[in-house]
Parts: sequence; C-alpha cells; structure tokens
Amino acid sequence: MILVTGATGHLGANLVRRLLRDGEDVRVLLRGDVHARTPALDGLAVQRVGGDVRDARSVARAVDGCDRVFHCAALKSPADGGKREIHRTNVVGTRNVLDAALRHGTERVVVTGSFGATGETRGRPSTEDVPYDPFRRHTPYATSKAFAEHECLRAAAAGLDVVIAASTAIVGPHDYGPSRAGRALLDFAHGRLLAYPPGGFEFVSVDDLVEGHLLAMRHGRPGRKYLLSTRFMTMDALMDLFAAVTGRPRPPLRVPGPLMAGAAEVLHGLARTVAPHREPRFSPAAVRFLRAERKADCSRARAELGYRPTSVATAVEQAHACFARRGLLPGRHPRVVPPRGPSSTPLPAAAAQRLPKEEP
Ligand SMILES: NC(=O)c1ccc[n+]([C@@H]2O[C@H](COP(=O)([O-])OP(=O)(O)OC[C@H]3O[C@@H](n4cnc5c(N)ncnc54)[C@H](OP(=O)(O)O)[C@@H]3O)[C@@H](O)[C@H]2O)c1
Repeated sequence: MILVTGATGHLGANLVRRLLRDGEDVRVLLRGDVHARTPALDGLAVQRVGGDVRDARSVARAVDGCDRVFHCAALKSPADGGKREIHRTNVVGTRNVLDAALRHGTERVVVTGSFGATGETRGRPSTEDVPYDPFRRHTPYATSKAFAEHECLRAAAAGLDVVIAASTAIVGPHDYGPSRAGRALLDFAHGRLLAYPPGGFEFVSVDDLVEGHLLAMRHGRPGRKYLLSTRFMTMDALMDLFAAVTGRPRPPLRVPGPLMAGAAEVLHGLARTVAPHREPRFSPAAVRFLRAERKADCSRARAELGYRPTSVATAVEQAHACFARRGLLPGRHPRVVPPRGPSSTPLPAAAAQRLPKEEP
C-alpha cells in the first residue's frame, strides 16, 4: 500500500492516477470530509483516510500499514493562512510524516521539495549541492521548504530511508487549484492577460515530475535530493507557447523588469489590505524569481535515476485540453468524458505546427 499526501493537489492528482495505472494500491490522506466530492479524486479506486499533516496522530494512522509514502502535501501561498500556517504545514507536517514513517518501519518516503529552496550560483545552473542562502530575500514558502529538507536529513540520520524529489514550476493537466501557471494559461485564453514581465523560469511537466518521483522511489539514494525540471523557458517563449495552444495573440505589453517589480510591490501591499486571501498573479516574489532567470541542473537525476525530461509544450497542451473538458475556456461547456490518462485530446494539426520548437 502506498500513501500519498496532497493527493487533491496538482502533483498528487497526477501521481495517484499514474500509481493506479501501474496497478498499485493507493491510500490518500484527506482533510475535511473524506467522502466529499473532489474532481481530483472522484471515480478513482483509492482508500481515503481523514487527517491533516499538522496533526501527528492522524498522520500516524494514515502511515500505518503503508510500505511506501509520497509526501506531496504543502501550503504554498501565505494567502491560505499566513506564514505560521506555512511553517506548520510544510515543516511540522513533514516532520510528522517522517516520524510516523520511522516508527512504522516504512520502506521509503519520497518528499517533494522545491527548487526555490536550492541556493544560487551566479551564471551557472544550480545543482542540489548549492545550499539555501539564509541571507537572501526569500518567501516564507521557500524558507519552509528549506527547513523541510532539514527535517528529511534529520530523519535520514535517525535511520529513515527518505529521498527528496525537488520540483520546479509545475505545468500540466488535472490542475484543479488551479496553479499559478494554470491561472496564467486560463487568463491568456480569456484575453485577460494584458501584460507580462520579462525573465524566465524552470518549468516541469507534471508527467515528468510524476515519473521523477517514481524513479526516486525505485532508484534514489537514501538522504539524497534530486532536482526535477523539464526545461528553462523565457516568458517570451512561454507566451508564444500559450499563443500557439490557445490560438490567441500574445499580450501587447511586456513590462520592463524594474517597473514590473515596483508595480508588484505596490499591488501586493494593496492586495494584502483589500483582498488578503487572494494571491496576486504577479507577486513580488514571482517577479523576483522570473528576473533572476535561475536555471536547474538535473544531471544528478539523469545519471542516478535515469530521469529523461520530455516537453513543456505537451504539458501545456494537456493542461489546455483538461481545462477545455471542464468548460473553463471561452465558448466551451463542460462535457462528461470517461477517465483517461494524462495524455489527453491532441491539438489540431494546425495548432500543433504553431508550437515553438523545444530543445532536446
Ligand atoms: N506547484 C509548483 O509549481 C511547485 C513548485 C515547486 C515545488 N512544489 C511542491 O510540490 C508539491 C505539490 O505541489 P502542488 O502544486 O501539487 O500543490 P497544490 O496543488 O497546492 O496542493 C497542495 C496539496 O496539499 C494538501 N494540503 C495542504 N495542507 C495540508 C494539510 N495541513 N494536511 C494535509 N494536506 C494538506 C492540499 O489539500 P487540500 O485539498 O485539503 O487543500 C493539496 O492536496 C508541494 O510539496 C510543493 O511544495 C510545487
């Protein structure tokens, strides 16, 4: 039996589907009413267990009887409860999962990490060995993910077999949040994205991330961290990709970096007072990340796990097709479709030809 935390999230929903396709027995840890309808899991043959990662007892009940654990649950935005809740969920929650796994003799735990908790090397892609720099400006989320990695090392030192699978920005189907990238795609499709910042970021196709997690479970070395990304993309390239997939033109305005950074600070301050539970599309942290143009070096995952990243373009197509099936795109209405794997409706040939070329 495999436990998946965060199964209603973007990664979790895709991971659970893949595990079921691979013939695994899957248990999921769910907050609130375990029988409540949730599009991420409805119709899937999983064992639902109630609990909350902040509550050690409920975590212990969920872990009991599972030989493997994928710990994907996390709180990403302070809009969901503030920085204390981020710490309680991501740091104390990870500690609870690892302690329970150690007590119950779990064979291996794979914990989802974040590229944001990896340090920077000027001019060179970051590897897993570049330590988090506490003296730079970080979001509470990035700090919590760095602390969570320390929890993993602590548990490894205590004898637990734990591996960290660190993600970059996730793109792909079954994005019920939706994620930041998913929201940007929806806004683009509706013509609501009027401007975008320069810069770029590392993106990971959710299929690649799921595959990386399975490889980490099978071949990862205990106590090791593996960066999992598909590729770096500039915002210009991402906008071209969105244009090809949605058939809409790119936003007319590419705002200069310093202006975007200033505007994001002002809007963020305003949003905190007016709508504290709404995460702004371009937060100061998001603009900072994009401007830094940080690149990830995934050679460890390639060499030790056999990780072979595929394509961000395909992930965006799949995300778009999934939104279309749910009636979230302009002029479309939801239709009932039989459950299927992550690869979904292919793009029409003309649109496929418009896709920007990806480097291998
Ligand atoms: N998305 C990205 O671009 C990105 C980038 C780097 C790293 N990551 C990491 O990848 C992992 C998955 O991210 P995601 O984007 O799939 O997340 P997500 O879509 O935001 O989903 C978060 C999941 O965590 C669950 N959760 C939150 N607090 C919980 C608690 N106290 N107890 C139990 N479950 C709780 C949520 O359950 P509810 O449905 O109850 O809210 C949900 O299932 C996370 O560890 C994240 O830090 C993500």
